[in-house]
Amino acid sequence: MRFLLIDDVPSQRWLLRKRISQKWPDAGIEEYDPEKSGVPGPTFPWHDYDIVLLDYDLGLDQINGLELLSRIKGNANPPMVIMVTGQNDENLAAAAIRKGADNYIAKYDAVTNLFFETVAEAVKLREAALSASKPGRGEFGNWEIPGFRPLAIISKGVTTTLRCERIADHKDVILKVQLVGKGDSNQALLQRFILELNILADLKHAHVIEILEHDVTQNMVYYATEFMPRGDLAMRLKSGPVTVAEAVGIVAQVASGLTALHAKGIVHRDIKPNNILFKDEKTVVIADLGIAKDLSSLDALTLVGEILGTPYYMSPEQFNGRPIDPRSDMYSLGAVFYQLLAGTVPFVGNSFMEVVYKHNYDPVPPLPAELSRFQPVVEKMLAKAPEQRYSDLSELLATLIGVRM
Ligand SMILES: Nc1ncnc2c1ncn2[C@@H]1O[C@H](COP(=O)(O)OP(=O)(O)O)[C@@H](O)[C@H]1O
Ligand SMILES: [Mg+2]
Repeated sequence: MRFLLIDDVPSQRWLLRKRISQKWPDAGIEEYDPEKSGVPGPTFPWHDYDIVLLDYDLGLDQINGLELLSRIKGNANPPMVIMVTGQNDENLAAAAIRKGADNYIAKYDAVTNLFFETVAEAVKLREAALSASKPGRGEFGNWEIPGFRPLAIISKGVTTTLRCERIADHKDVILKVQLVGKGDSNQALLQRFILELNILADLKHAHVIEILEHDVTQNMVYYATEFMPRGDLAMRLKSGPVTVAEAVGIVAQVASGLTALHAKGIVHRDIKPNNILFKDEKTVVIADLGIAKDLSSLDALTLVGEILGTPYYMSPEQFNGRPIDPRSDMYSLGAVFYQLLAGTVPFVGNSFMEVVYKHNYDPVPPLPAELSRFQPVVEKMLAKAPEQRYSDLSELLATLIGVRM
């Protein structure tokens, strides 16, 4: 979201900026001082902004906030405008709304929660409008899900992950959706998806993503989870390294979530940073059981082509078609741990085959010298033969407790 603050009082602009970045740390915020820059001219790029906070009293003789509002709204593709009124003036607010303001807020409310609510509503409407106006976005045509308003498509593969507003309570949620179609392969995918949904619905654990609700509509099956604005571990790593304590904390939490899955006879099979989400700054949850395997089920539900994902976190037995058990997740978690400590995955190569080869034959490269105390741990997690790894995740957890941070 790109904000523009139009106000002649620097302290007021400062306050608005501060409040917006408290809630929307990634927002772009620009200021316009009418006293210094005068009346914005006819070529002012209003369409570069999503939300304008517009003061009524601009400190200008020629024009007040209401008149400027009319000018802004006279443009093609205007931003949303929240009128900032000096005093609790309902008449002014009403006049602003008549002239096209999207909302108003009294100056003294900048420090209250009403400010966040008012701006959040504008952000939401703006996001919905933006995605609605994107070219070729008949794409949302597929996503008519009663009770939800789609805001964005987050990822699209076998299933589609959508960010939506749950209309009943305005909650920001993620819907993972499997379209139901004809044909055997679709039947297999649907079966797989329903398995994912049921594993998650049956399992309540602090470190496994929680299903809020699920349903079947005319052309799809979906489940909803809470939207986690901090994103996944892969995104987190793009913004810089984690500390050793964070790395150990993340691995311990994923191990704890995996223990719960394994106790139910489920192997995740796709542990990697993209599938580890930040619930809050310190808490992570395991997501995406899209290729999880229920070991008790006779039907293997293995689909051709499913190993075509990223090879960096896959165990040798996954490449070699040998039986998979919980120790395969131990290996993948080992690759994640290695990456958290070293800043790069243990085995890289120029081709899929080269990476596979290294998983099979190469020793685990040494961690940076100052982290050598973790070398035996990652080597045991990343042992080529499952029987040489930790026997279960609680053994790993016990070991981690013993290693100095
Ligand atoms: N609840 C959520 N909150 C925020 N982002 C999410 C959430 N669920 C999924 N995502 C994002 O969407 C991506 C894809 O979701 P995922 O369940 O892994 O499906 P896929 O099978 O497409 O990999 C994740 O890597 C993550 O970045
Ligand atoms: Mg995923």
